[in-house]
Amino acid sequence: MTDFEVRVARADEHDVASGVFGEAMMFDATPSELGRQLFEPERALMATDGAEVIGTTRALTRDLSVPGAVVDAAHVTGVGVRATYRRRGVMSALIGRQLREVQEAIAVLWASEPAIYGRFGYGAAAWGTNYEIDLRRVGPTDDRIRPGALGVLTVDEALKELPTVLRRAQEQRPGVSGRSELRWQGHLEDKPDDRNGRTARQILVHRDEAGTITGYALWRGKMNWVPTGPANEVLVEELVAPDPTAYRVLWQHLLTMDLSAKLGYGYAAVDEPLQQLVSTPTALERRVGESLWLRVTDVPRALQQRQYAVPVDVVLDVTDDLIETNTGRFRLTADESSVTCERTDAPADLSLPIGTLGAIYLGGRPLTEFAPTGRVTEHTPATLNRATAAFNWPIAPVSLEVF
Ligand SMILES: CC(C)(COP(=O)(O)OP(=O)(O)OC[C@H]1O[C@@H](n2cnc3c(N)ncnc32)[C@H](O)[C@@H]1OP(=O)(O)O)[C@@H](O)C(=O)NCCC(=O)NCCS
Repeated sequence: MTDFEVRVARADEHDVASGVFGEAMMFDATPSELGRQLFEPERALMATDGAEVIGTTRALTRDLSVPGAVVDAAHVTGVGVRATYRRRGVMSALIGRQLREVQEAIAVLWASEPAIYGRFGYGAAAWGTNYEIDLRRVGPTDDRIRPGALGVLTVDEALKELPTVLRRAQEQRPGVSGRSELRWQGHLEDKPDDRNGRTARQILVHRDEAGTITGYALWRGKMNWVPTGPANEVLVEELVAPDPTAYRVLWQHLLTMDLSAKLGYGYAAVDEPLQQLVSTPTALERRVGESLWLRVTDVPRALQQRQYAVPVDVVLDVTDDLIETNTGRFRLTADESSVTCERTDAPADLSLPIGTLGAIYLGGRPLTEFAPTGRVTEHTPATLNRATAAFNWPIAPVSLEVF
């Protein structure tokens, strides 16, 4: 057993932290000036053995759309432990301290492996759908694209125009992370080394009659010729179109790209309306997996800061092995105009571990799903169904980027 310590990072330790994370994930970290500017040392933890940094975790200050609101959420990233120090509790020490110190009422992350974070009270809160589309079979519906409706932006133009569109998308769908100006710069950076043989990124936009941008797509192409002719590939990195016309027209354009045989898109929601736009939905091959994991770090604050689909009045008995203040009974009452969540001595209607609360928080998974495995227990008849209806949200959550 090695002795190690956990401490807050120093301002000059961005490169060390990204080096340790890169080594753990098996990629060569190439620290950039932008990466250093985005580094929040006071929110990064370093595990050290003497002078050597052996593990890291970071929390990014960002907001996230949740049912009916956009709230602060610690975006956890950069979790890595040097291979020579694994399975000795280093990650557990880092994540435990991080969760106890986090200021936000919720923390979110993308897991490299689904088996890692459940033990820390995270729940898989959003599914992501990965599409592989056979463009030769897909047969999109023939929407007439208005001349001048589509255009291409430079990065500088996009930095000015796209943030508003993303904010509108946050108002529609839970699970979408906000981006500061600096983070947008990072998002739109297009280093030739990262293109994997694909073209430079195209920033495609749709404008309404008044010239306002109502949706955008970030995509790249890849030339591919096979003995039978062209079979290019289209990779859609992000498509944000809160306006229905923009949604249809952007997809129509991408699905009918000349010379192309295949389209990939990795950030679709489980209720993605894309299949409505094509005449052969079987040409859309779908793979669904966990995307965003969510950890409730402050039960009453977290439950109070989202909205509920129908009025509810329920006493939840929560257990949390890591954050003591989360353990106990909380009465959640919500109607159209207000939400309160307070500690109570009243008997519990439902009891559940903190991980279940994380899994249902974004409204994408029904609470009833957890009853057969004992991850929620009903004490008062009918309260499980009522709470399920309240926590569910009509629009599925989606996370648009791995952070
Ligand atoms: C994942 C990682 C950070 C774990 O670090 P670690 O210091 O070895 O973890 P710990 O020793 O604290 O493990 C705590 C528990 O989690 C389990 N665990 C750790 N990594 C796991 C994994 N990848 N899959 C399943 N269980 C895992 C351990 O077996 C241990 O279980 P136990 O308490 O029942 O014995 C480390 O293996 C790593 O850097 N992996 C590669 C990078 C990576 O995937 N990072 C996560 C990015 S989201």
